This record gives sequence, structure tokens and C-alpha cells, in this order.
Amino acid sequence: MQTIRDIGKLGSALVALRAGGHRVALVPTMGALHAGHLALVEEAKRQADRVVATIFVNPLQFGEGEDLDHYPRQEKEDARALDQAGCDLLWIPTAEQIYPAGFSTTVSVPGLSKRWEGEARPGHFDGVATVVTKLLSVIRPEVAVFGEKDFQQLAIIRRLAADLGLGAQIAGVPTVRDEDGLALSSRNAYLTYDEREWAVAFPKSLERAVAEIEGGAAVPDALENAGSAIRNAGFSAVDYVALVDSTTLEPLEKPAGTMRLIAAARIGKTRLIDNFPVEVSE
Ligand code: PAJ
Repeated sequence: MQTIRDIGKLGSALVALRAGGHRVALVPTMGALHAGHLALVEEAKRQADRVVATIFVNPLQFGEGEDLDHYPRQEKEDARALDQAGCDLLWIPTAEQIYPAGFSTTVSVPGLSKRWEGEARPGHFDGVATVVTKLLSVIRPEVAVFGEKDFQQLAIIRRLAADLGLGAQIAGVPTVRDEDGLALSSRNAYLTYDEREWAVAFPKSLERAVAEIEGGAAVPDALENAGSAIRNAGFSAVDYVALVDSTTLEPLEKPAGTMRLIAAARIGKTRLIDNFPVEVSE
């Protein structure tokens, strides 16, 4: 695997990678890689001949008081893991390369960005949409691979890729979980030993709500039960537990179409998000 830091060297590296007509897949990350990220590389290899990954802790998507300065950084380990997973090219840009002096363009997907994570983290999705547009524009992959773990992010990226005609097909990969069911996340590293024990109640309560809804229970009851169970397990706050349309992310009071149960909750200083598909036969 070739590692590039200088954007000036990226162009020729991409030309070499594409030689012979190879299809390129992009896996954008912020590093501190775990098995969830590596599952994206696996999917990228299935969908293309060559895999490009990026590691960039994007300052634009962090709000004031968020964890930009403390975000885990471990480039050496990450590079080794990507190499072993079969990644061909790793680009680790600097902030100046992504946002050159005078940078003043923002990509915004307002409708899909306003609710849920957008409410708790104002400006976050503009930061994500802007950096992903930049990466897709510079690298021009045939496919870009993202995790369902960040379900709202995935919906926003699908929308912007379709709207702007950036030429990349957007692929989603199911969430990779720890043995006890907690979704893998770079931010799980912030959990204390006790918090990590309690955290399992989050996916478990959501799965129970999915089973209740699929079994015909009233949606508001199932959502409320999940919220109480999460709070009772030691979480300090439940930001939302909602049944939403998978494409529009609008809330549903009754099962309809393709649905997702989405949730965010706080445990200690850490905010966890998760989601599950919900399937109710008509
Ligand atoms: P990051 O949190 O590093 O995640 C990079 C990619 O890995 C995202 O597509 C995310 O959804 C996926 N991912 C994270 N945990 C996962 C899990 N447990 N299972 C499957 N996929 C998982 O998301 C970002 O970075 C940034 O917002 C980014 C898209 C790179 C833009 O800066």
C-alpha cells in the first residue's frame, strides 16, 4: 500500500492506480480504525479493482466544545490495518490541502440535515457534506463506501451524490458490532469500564423495540419503552429514539414502507448513536 500526504503527488498516484482501466473505490475515514472501517474496505474490494482510503479528522464537522482536539489519532496502526485489509492507496491530507487559504464553499443538504443528529450537532452535516464532496471531486472514484452505522450521514451522502452528479455510486455497509451487540465506534474508546458494561443496553433496547414494532405493538409505546430502558440502564439522556422513513428520515407513527429505528443517547461524557432496520409485512 502506498501512503501519500502531499496532494501534489495524489494525481499521478491515481493515474497509476487506474492504469489498465481499473475501477476505484473510495473509503473515507477519520482514522482510529476498527473492524467496522475494515468491513468498508472489504466491500470496496468487492465493488472495485483498486481501493483508496483517506484519513482526515475533518475540523469542519466538529462543533464548538466537541472532541476535535481529543479525537483518537493512530496513523501508524491505521496504515498497517488498511494495508493488511488490501487497501492500495492511503491519502492522509492536511487541513490546508482540503481547505486551502480562502476556502469558502459549503455543501449543504438542508432537508435531511435538520433533524436528529443535525439538531444535536448544528453545522455537523454541512461539514460532512463539504468534505465528502471535496474527496469525491479530487479522487473521482467509481464507488464510495460508507457505513450504515451513521445512517443519517449515509442518507445525506446518497442525496448529495445524486444531486451533484459526482459520478460515484454510494455503497452502504451494515453495522459491525462487538460480541455483545454494541456498534463499533472510534468513540467507544471514551467509555469507562462501567459505562462500556452499561452501554450494551442501548442496542438491546433498540432491538427489543424493533421486535415489538414488527410484532404489531403501537410505535409510540415501543419507542417509549426503549427510551425508559436506556435511561434505566445508566444513560444520562436519550436524545431521540424514532422510527423513520429510510430515505426521507421523516418520523413515522405507524409502520410504512422501508423503515429504520434510529437513536442517540448519552452515557457519561460520550454520545452514542445506533440504528436498526425494521421490517413489517403489509
Ligand atoms: P468515521 O467515523 O471514521 O467513519 C468512517 C466510515 O466508517 C463511515 O462511513 C462510518 O459510517 C463507517 N463506520 C463507523 N463505524 C462503523 C461500524 N461499526 N460498522 C460499519 N461501518 C462503520 O464517518 C466519518 O468518519 C466521517 O464523517 C467521514 C465520512 C469520513 C467524513 O469526514
